[in-house]
Amino acid sequence: MRLEVCEQIHVEQARRIARQAARAAGFDEPRCEAVVLAVSELAANLVRHARGGALRITAIEAQGVPGVEVESTDEGPGIADLEGALDDGFSTAGGLGSGLPAVRRLMDEFEVIETGPQGTRIRARAWSTR
Ligand SMILES: Nc1ncnc2c1ncn2[C@@H]1O[C@H](COP(=O)(O)OP(=O)(O)OP(=O)(O)O)[C@@H](O)[C@H]1O
Ligand SMILES: [Mg+2]
Repeated sequence: MRLEVCEQIHVEQARRIARQAARAAGFDEPRCEAVVLAVSELAANLVRHARGGALRITAIEAQGVPGVEVESTDEGPGIADLEGALDDGFSTAGGLGSGLPAVRRLMDEFEVIETGPQGTRIRARAWSTR
């Protein structure tokens, strides 16, 4: 499922899609909420820092274990200070700076695949614990 995210209403849509995907993967409620929150933060960053972008939310599976993969892609300015951006409390926009660190904590896998003047691509995965 691919979703363009450039304004707040798309963040709400992304949250709904994330919840459906997490439920379909058999996640329990707290894990569903974790995925929803992570997707929410990535979506909010697309709106706030990248003038929009796209989220891809997909069902994945490894050795019979279901999961959810989220990929955020944009053609924004890139994350100037990646190490800083992954620290709690770092924001270039007067935010709390807790978004990316939360995504990293909430998901089992987190990777900034690329970031630079051509844009940013972030991938995160969560696996079912049941
Ligand atoms: N997609 C993106 N493109 C460019 N820069 C980004 C992107 N996502 C995050 N950043 C940069 O990383 C910083 C940290 O992001 P993070 O989500 O942790 O904090 P925030 O968005 O500033 O505040 P919060 O999410 O707590 O409201 C941002 O301030 C911004 O500079
Ligand atoms: Mg943020």
